[in-house]
Amino acid sequence: MIWRCDLLPQYEAYKDEIQEAITRVLESGRYVLAGEVAAFEKEFATYIGVDHGVSVANATDALTLSLMALDVGIGDEVITTPYTAIPTLSSIVATGATPVFVDVCEDTYLMDLDKVSDAITPNTKAIMPVHIFGNVLDVEKLKEIVGEIPIVEDASQAHGANIRGKQAGSMGDIGVFSFYPTKNLGAYGDGGIAVTNNKVLDEKLRLLRMYGMTDKDHIKINGVNSRLDEMQAAILRVKLTHLDDMNASRRTIAERYVNELPKHLFKHQRIDDDVVSNYHVFNSAFLGDREAFVKYMDDLNIQTNIYYLMPLHLQEATRYLGGKVGDFPVAESLCKQAMALTFYPELKDEVLDHVIEKVNQFSS
Ligand SMILES: Cc1ncc(COP(=O)(O)O)c(C=O)c1O
Repeated sequence: MIWRCDLLPQYEAYKDEIQEAITRVLESGRYVLAGEVAAFEKEFATYIGVDHGVSVANATDALTLSLMALDVGIGDEVITTPYTAIPTLSSIVATGATPVFVDVCEDTYLMDLDKVSDAITPNTKAIMPVHIFGNVLDVEKLKEIVGEIPIVEDASQAHGANIRGKQAGSMGDIGVFSFYPTKNLGAYGDGGIAVTNNKVLDEKLRLLRMYGMTDKDHIKINGVNSRLDEMQAAILRVKLTHLDDMNASRRTIAERYVNELPKHLFKHQRIDDDVVSNYHVFNSAFLGDREAFVKYMDDLNIQTNIYYLMPLHLQEATRYLGGKVGDFPVAESLCKQAMALTFYPELKDEVLDHVIEKVNQFSS
């Protein structure tokens, strides 16, 4: 079986360093919110080019707590896109706010900046753009459109991606990253972080992630329990030192797919010249019979994936928002065409050769 993403080769590649990190934590006797977490938060914030990082249990929590830190709640609206992973939506709903969708661009899959103004109302309390698949939205341009409305960048898929040298996650009020194992920077469990240059937001996020406690006997605000553990932090510190190499490898594989896949079957995500994508996944619009292609690949034991099968405004859970077919035509059509191929940084040349060869032999 050729998996769409195989996590074992990465463990094998950095095994000694990872084992050393795990042993260091086990022998430290400190397992929650101690030195490794503090060091990782500093190292990751420095990598992104911001002042602060507050690690939490996963990126869904990081998005939710970011909105809470911005006082988003019942009666407020948060703008995002309907073509993203479900947790982007979950975080908005968790605060009691109402999600408001803006369609994406057909070629970049990023929030269509020409449509944002129309979605803003007096209740708009935050904008949550998504750097989808590691392509980077021009957040500076978004700021010109939305003025003072706070921006929480969902950079869960965009570790190390940048636009004009500015890292995804560093341009808005808060940037959020996921460390789910398949992410470009992946833990061996769940993890997430919110990064910011704003000291007040940093302090609020720190309170929110631990019950709102100022010390063991006092709570200042109502918070939750959402912490990255020491073991994951130590592992992430190791992997962070290899992130640029792993992203470079992803770019090399993506380049081969772009150059060698049949042009009549694939329309690839457009990455503008001023953007360096981290190619979280290689997801394109498939122009042939997608069902037949998936079956063809399945029969060859080559796994494929679809990001995403359904746009968020047509999900059962969002029916209360009144979304209907035709509301966001670009997202809807991308969901009908999306197709992701085998993709991870350690993918061997001979496996990639085989996948490309088989795709080229498909006739629809
Ligand atoms: C765009 C996006 N946002 C948020 C998340 C949530 O990340 P986590 O699984 O760490 O909660 C993900 C992960 O799938 C994601 O892809």
